[in-house]
Amino acid sequence: MDPAAPLTSLKHRHLLGLSTYSAPEIGLILETAREFREVLERPIRQVPTLRGYTVANLFFEPSTRTRLSFELAEKRLSAESVSFTRSGSSLTKGESLRDTARNIEAMKVDLAVIRHTSPGAAHFLTRCIEARVINAGDGAHEHPTQALLDLLTMSEHFPSFEDLRVSIIGDIAHSRVARSNIFGLTTLGASVTLCAPPTLLPVRVEELGVRTTSHLEEALDGCDVAMALRIQRERFGASLLPSLREYAIRFGLRMRHLREHPDMIVMHPGPINRGVEVDHDVADHERAVILDQVTNGVAVRMAVLYLLATGSA
Ligand code: CP
Repeated sequence: MDPAAPLTSLKHRHLLGLSTYSAPEIGLILETAREFREVLERPIRQVPTLRGYTVANLFFEPSTRTRLSFELAEKRLSAESVSFTRSGSSLTKGESLRDTARNIEAMKVDLAVIRHTSPGAAHFLTRCIEARVINAGDGAHEHPTQALLDLLTMSEHFPSFEDLRVSIIGDIAHSRVARSNIFGLTTLGASVTLCAPPTLLPVRVEELGVRTTSHLEEALDGCDVAMALRIQRERFGASLLPSLREYAIRFGLRMRHLREHPDMIVMHPGPINRGVEVDHDVADHERAVILDQVTNGVAVRMAVLYLLATGSA
């Protein structure tokens, strides 16, 4: 077998994170997502690819973009799907994650998509059920489909990841989006700079092959992609930041930054705190590709569902 030949199937049975995915596997997902992106532009945006498959969407934590785009991706692929949220379920009566998952699997599902507050929840699920598992965000651990849709969006603006300089700005310490992007981007050869107040930078994060700074101007110097992250007030006490106002002054992206860096695009995984991570004008600027990220989310999730459902790993 030629080691340089493009892959035609994934080597993984699950998508728990990007830390173990190789460049050819990520490339296969992005290439497949580009094909599904075209399906989304057709008058009839549905293909029979996963007819006969059943997907359970297990959302133990609130979500707008990820849950809706997984549900839409399943419909676009003609899969059957059921959705579960914590409120209104028997979890409120004390049922464990393991028992909940095994009951859902007893109803015969092929794939399970899980979002949970606990890091490792998706991995735990693989030990409880036979279905293939997709991590839709587990605590501050990983959010691989978000990073994949970010990579797809970047690839629409820049010819190669090899020369790409990406600055991730914000609450790195609590961000599963940052972690998955660090793994994906460095695997593909991009240069990554993390920019945050020292209290929001994980210790020894440079060991992941990234640069760090607490100065926004330094992070934006020569940068192609400025990815702002949401300040996650629910994940830490007020002690890590003096005030949101001070954060916005030191780390918020403003029109001045777009003028100073005319080739730079702005990304944000959402939900946005307007006026904190990005100014209103920046969020709505043509070089802010935030809604393109959302559209690409459907195509990427179609690709991941398809490749895992039909894979032989
Ligand atoms: N980006 C993201 O994960 O958004 P949701 O929390 O709305 O799913």
